[in-house]
Amino acid sequence: MMRRYLLLFGIFIALMNASGCGKTEQAKASEKTKEEVGRKWTIGMSQCNLGEPWRVQMNQDIKNEAGKYPEIRVVYKDAQNDSLKQRAQIEEFINAGVDLIIVSPKEAAPLTQPVAAAYEKGIPVIVLDRRVLGDKYTSFIGADNKIIGKAAGQWIVKKLGGKGKVVELKGLMTSTPGQDRHTGFREGIADSAIEVIFEADMKWLEPAARKEMESALARFPQIDLVYAHNDPGAHGAYLAAMAANREKEMLFVGIDALPQEGKIYVEQGILAASFEYPTGGKEAIQSALEILSGISVSKEITLPSRVFTRENIAQGGELIQ
Ligand code: FRU
Repeated sequence: MMRRYLLLFGIFIALMNASGCGKTEQAKASEKTKEEVGRKWTIGMSQCNLGEPWRVQMNQDIKNEAGKYPEIRVVYKDAQNDSLKQRAQIEEFINAGVDLIIVSPKEAAPLTQPVAAAYEKGIPVIVLDRRVLGDKYTSFIGADNKIIGKAAGQWIVKKLGGKGKVVELKGLMTSTPGQDRHTGFREGIADSAIEVIFEADMKWLEPAARKEMESALARFPQIDLVYAHNDPGAHGAYLAAMAANREKEMLFVGIDALPQEGKIYVEQGILAASFEYPTGGKEAIQSALEILSGISVSKEITLPSRVFTRENIAQGGELIQ
């Protein structure tokens, strides 16, 4: 009888241990932590368009970095250059209950409200490259477009010996990089005799830049340089000048310096200079992981930029400040 009781008691203890009831509080807590570490986090990424090589590169940079961390999963949405569509995408991410949102907004004003709504609901939001208005987001990551614009202006002043006739092809002026690359540039040329004879918003798009440049060429017999807010814009201007047989009369300067785009144009002598605009994709994933792990990140993460010219490209360009 006694042996039977002992056997039953032994089975009871074994069952208690197997179910975790017999564990100390500390052991239980560490088990929970293990569970949390293994948990999958879903990140919603809303890209304003994938029609431009720079944005394809940004998504690729995100993918490459995210691939190193099995605990995260990134869901991508392409807003196809439509702010309304991008607003809806942020709302979809909120409704789906993602753990964090990364957004590279098309325009500042229309994206401000949905980003603020996510942030106020407690979903961390990383804003990448183009800003929203106000401060209702977790962190902004991007290079300083005012500094880039100013450096471009100063570089152009030096290159043209302090004077000349310049065309400015602006990026979408409802987006913050367009605004900053413009004001920075004007600061950079302020104390010179550089004259901006023509300016137009080419909305970051090569075909639009080409069209605007056709108008500039038709109106002005002398153009010394084209400053475009991105490399596709500078390339569009070059194509227009080439069609008019005037490309050798002027220089072309752009921004982005992608290895497969702007840097090649510089090597080929199409662009006199390209200013790097890093995508921030890798940094966005690194910040996302910190935020998701409960580590606080800076509200503003500023990435460095380099200028690439024919003379310095083999040495890896030069850091701008
Ligand atoms: C791509 C792009 C880049 C530019 C950036 C600014 O959409 O136009 O060429 O540097 O956006 O946000």
